[in-house]
Amino acid sequence: MITIDPKTTPTRELHQFLLGSIAPRPIAFVSTIDENGNNNLAPYSFFNAFSSNPPILVFSSNRRVVDNTTKDTLYNIEQNKEVVINVVNYAIVRQMTIASIQFDKEISEFEKSGLTPLKSDLVAPARVKESPVQMECKVKEIVTLGAHGGAGHLIICEVVKMHISEDVVDNNRINPHKIDLMGRMGRSYYVRASGDAIMSIYQPVTKITIGFDKLPKSIKNSSILTGNNLGQLAGIEKLPSNAEIDDVRNHPEVEKILTYENPEIALHHFAKNVLDKNDDRDLAIKSLMLADLL
Ligand SMILES: Cc1cc2nc3c(=O)[nH]c(=O)nc-3n(C[C@H](O)[C@H](O)[C@H](O)COP(=O)(O)O)c2cc1C
Repeated sequence: MITIDPKTTPTRELHQFLLGSIAPRPIAFVSTIDENGNNNLAPYSFFNAFSSNPPILVFSSNRRVVDNTTKDTLYNIEQNKEVVINVVNYAIVRQMTIASIQFDKEISEFEKSGLTPLKSDLVAPARVKESPVQMECKVKEIVTLGAHGGAGHLIICEVVKMHISEDVVDNNRINPHKIDLMGRMGRSYYVRASGDAIMSIYQPVTKITIGFDKLPKSIKNSSILTGNNLGQLAGIEKLPSNAEIDDVRNHPEVEKILTYENPEIALHHFAKNVLDKNDDRDLAIKSLMLADLL
């Protein structure tokens, strides 16, 4: 393992190790306004949601490492305590990168990026029309984390109005395939949340499950099952009874496997396959425990 001591590591290096590890990060596309009414727009990926009631979003505007200066977004917020946080999807990712350029304070990144300012209902900064979700926010607090280059300023925002494009909503829920969000990683890497990058992991959390420790030894020590497979099995509510295990002999594929010379290994492969393909934990655990009884 590479060990890093933040106290003796140059900030530039530490920054990249942090960014490469804390990833992918959602991107807040932050719209603010200065005292002369000039629009400002910039992306911030030190960003997340921290509370739903009240609805609180936090992003961090950092002091530049090169010259310890602060950013226009922070300056504007200190003046008027209002922002709009827009999300960034694939359709606007390139325009978003233009808005991250250090244009002079009075230059609007809306104009430079070609994105359209849309009047907000409750705050002065404009929304980004092309963004599928736009959140009007009041800034509750600014927390300064340090005085040197790289130090963050946490901007704690309360959402006062949310606008969501109908195009990304199905049955009153945002469809991840439709919203097509982008995430920021280390260096110049991004991730597009679409296609195979999106997966559904179903694990009820209110019913208590057996846990890894209660899995039979032969399953825990299997050279075929992965950590993820064991995680799936640890999520079942109880181990099958001997009668239930015996019953799986009637499954057509298990029946075939039982005619092999070494059915135990084949049963582990079969269980892995049904877990990976269909998350069929019931069939998998019975087949694995049958292998134990042979
Ligand atoms: C995807 C992306 C994410 C960024 N995240 C941050 C961040 O979390 N904090 C930060 O201080 N700067 C971040 N930046 C850099 C700022 O966007 C950049 O310094 C910008 O010029 C600031 O604009 P402003 O002075 O108008 O606020 C990010 C840039 C990009 C492209």
